[in-house]
Amino acid sequence: MKSATAPSQPRRWTLGRLGRWGGGLLLVLLFAIQLIPYGRDHTNPPVLAEPAWDRPETRALFVRACADCHSNQTVWPWYSNIAPASWLIARDVAEGREQLNISAWGSQRNEGDDAAEQVQDGEMPPWFYLPLHAEAQLTPTEEEQLIAGLIATFGGGSGEGDRRGDDDGD
Ligand code: HEC
Repeated sequence: MKSATAPSQPRRWTLGRLGRWGGGLLLVLLFAIQLIPYGRDHTNPPVLAEPAWDRPETRALFVRACADCHSNQTVWPWYSNIAPASWLIARDVAEGREQLNISAWGSQRNEGDDAAEQVQDGEMPPWFYLPLHAEAQLTPTEEEQLIAGLIATFGGGSGEGDRRGDDDGD
């Protein structure tokens, strides 16, 4: 005996339909957030003054691994124009410059004396920066050179460096 065919169920939210709607909504959202102006301005402020580097090699290593977030010579990658990456990058650069900006030496408070320790502890450069910045991946030897250079330039550990006494500039 032939069994009755099951009644068709026309308006079920199958995974496929949900997926198409979700995908569409996500696309619309991605377009919409591009209209938010935060993080779009990539004009680098002028370079005012740099610290007295112990050696040019220290500066070169710093430029490779740190300067995108700790100088006014940020190289803005293409994806820094696309939200939400643009927001995260803009925030990192703003906060990084606020803590340590080698282009504004003497005219703002700079945490130079923490720099060697940050590298030593593997805190800087931030882990998420490395996969997209091959040039920032230092060999163990380069890392040692950078740490030594940072200590020679800024002092390390306790007290020395540019932490105090830069309130003369206003
Ligand atoms: C992707 C951006 C980025 C890069 C690259 C980067 N930093 Fe930072 N850095 C930040 C941000 C954001 C902060 C402030 C928030 C924090 O402390 O985590 C910071 C904070 C610091 C501080 C202050 C920490 C404190 O609490 O006193 C030092 C020193 C520092 N960075 C050194 C370095 C050095 C040295 C390098 C390169 C080896 C480097 N950073 C690379 C983003 C960056």
